[in-house]
Amino acid sequence: LGWSVFLREEIDSTNAEALRLLQCPTSLPFIVVAESQTAGRGRRGRRWASPPVRNLYCSFALRVEAGGRHLSGMSLAVGLAVVDTLRSLGVPGVGLKWPNDVYVDGKKVAGILLELTGDPADQCHVVIGIGINVNMTFSVDEIDQPWTSLRSVLGALVDRNELLLRLAMSLSGYLERHISEGFSALRAEWEAVNVWQGLMCRLSAGSQEVLGRVLGVDDHGALRLDVDGCIYVFSGGELSLRLD
Ligand code: ATP
Ligand code: BTN
Repeated sequence: LGWSVFLREEIDSTNAEALRLLQCPTSLPFIVVAESQTAGRGRRGRRWASPPVRNLYCSFALRVEAGGRHLSGMSLAVGLAVVDTLRSLGVPGVGLKWPNDVYVDGKKVAGILLELTGDPADQCHVVIGIGINVNMTFSVDEIDQPWTSLRSVLGALVDRNELLLRLAMSLSGYLERHISEGFSALRAEWEAVNVWQGLMCRLSAGSQEVLGRVLGVDDHGALRLDVDGCIYVFSGGELSLRLD
């Protein structure tokens, strides 16, 4: 995919900017990259800490075919592209937490947020937001869970141009494969990097909670849990998984 790139110094959110750009005639696909975000967003209205410390905050916008069938499992395919990119830079111990948080040794290093515009049953666009802690090393009050950065793990400054280039190439490859073959072709690869594969976890949706052993994912990227000997399948953006 030949991506056009829009660079921004400071922006509210690269996802928000990509969604705004999609309202105007813009050549697709494109990437929005920013040095900092004043309202970086995570899943379910959470915030993504985005100080100007040479991290990577970027959003990839592309058209999705009518029918929206390519959307199922797409965020997990994006997770695989991030894992592949970090591994190619020599980052050890990279894994994914369902649906798509990126961890290194139990600490969050990157986050992924997909947003859709248009009607999935018809012509629509997807914005794939990716935030990677690249050169951030000081403590950040806003982050209320263990986190790390590539610089902390590798002990060296990471070149963001190279990182973005590798990410765009890997993402193009995984998206093309996902679109042509479906998520089922990536399922085994996803399970191989699943940080909690085989472990007892709690899955919550609001105040409701279920305890089960993580079996993996199905052909659409939904989570498979063994709950007291029965296999249940869960999908949807409101779900949150925690180790028991
Ligand atoms: P889940 O969605 O499964 O509940 P989660 O707790 O990681 O997982 P998300 O909405 O995916 O929640 O991500 C937002 C969370 O990520 C924030 O609440 C914060 O704890 C954490 N976070 C925010 N900014 C950063 C950052 N730059 N690096 C690492 N973690 C961050
Ligand atoms: C999460 O873990 O909840 C997802 C975090 C996604 C953060 C990235 S940073 C670039 C893009 N712009 C945003 O506002 N969010 C995503």
